[in-house]
Amino acid sequence: MKSFLSIKDLSVQEIYSILDLAEQLDRHPRPEILSGKIIGSLFFEPSTRTRLSFISAAYRVGAKVIGFDSPDASSIKKGESLRDTIKMVEAYTDAIVMRHSIEGAAKFAAEISRVPILNAGDGANEHPSQTLLDVYTIKKQLGTLENLKVAFVGDMKYGRTVHSLVKALSNFRCSFYFVAPEIIQLPSYLVRELKERGIPYQLLQNYEEILPQIDVLYMTRIQRERFENQEDFQRVSGIYKISKDKILGKCKEEMIILHPLPRVDEIAIDLDDTKHALYFQQAANGIPVRSALFAVALGAKKLDIPEQAEKNRVDSFEKSRCRNMMCVTNYEETDNKVIRTSYGDYCYYCGKEIQL
Ligand code: CP
Repeated sequence: MKSFLSIKDLSVQEIYSILDLAEQLDRHPRPEILSGKIIGSLFFEPSTRTRLSFISAAYRVGAKVIGFDSPDASSIKKGESLRDTIKMVEAYTDAIVMRHSIEGAAKFAAEISRVPILNAGDGANEHPSQTLLDVYTIKKQLGTLENLKVAFVGDMKYGRTVHSLVKALSNFRCSFYFVAPEIIQLPSYLVRELKERGIPYQLLQNYEEILPQIDVLYMTRIQRERFENQEDFQRVSGIYKISKDKILGKCKEEMIILHPLPRVDEIAIDLDDTKHALYFQQAANGIPVRSALFAVALGAKKLDIPEQAEKNRVDSFEKSRCRNMMCVTNYEETDNKVIRTSYGDYCYYCGKEIQL
């Protein structure tokens, strides 16, 4: 049984194997493979696509689903901890899908739980199942994940879908453009990682100049709910808006526009019926991809992967806790764990840089 917590936990071969399995399940649904299994669906943050597509995906492979779609409908409202919530739900289910506002919450839950945890988004950190459906969509449409030029536009700082997709595509010789106002540009720990790995990237404030070169335009919403200061949000809200007149004839014929959705005003409706607009298909691809994740998590399908390369070292540390105030280490009783890499130390839970 396997948890899915970060896209970084998957090797390139594992990503390809999950995409292959998703393709098979897309062509031939297999309602018998998880018959008798029960999935816990715990959403501490709002969701339309992720929650409903995980539920639909579970039904399509024969599993049943229990859970809640808001912490207000659970005993969290009475003060129960995440630790105790997971201890209870693991007793009722065979796997748990969880979305939480705290970074590293999924990794923490996986330490507590004896059943696999599937991270459905942990604050501004990661959204790995979204990334798998993003790469499924890219591969299906463009035929490859290799050597693509990908522009991310909007919220680079809090955009967990951006963080996870960059980590995934970093394995496929892609080059990146990050288009955002300075206050919501890509976090320094990700910039540092790209630099250290020699992956080509540019931090920009406008997309117009690079539009003719790119293969994937990944739009994102500027997320009001993640800003500590609403004045900062007002300064950047509505800054990027694409529409037919800004895109058609100015990009490659085969360029695709993706968006994890929901959108607010960053993609005009007039683009929806163009050949570039893939965002609704992208969201629909959540069904086969999440069905495949359930099948692997619950052992109904093996990935048949050779031994993985050595992972980074995980150590304990005593001196201080993670300084990211949104990290789970500041909310739950956790170990102090650090991931050591050749280019720095990172919190085991939220992945942010740590100074010991
Ligand atoms: N893409 C995504 O995570 O959408 P929801 O917030 O609706 O689940």
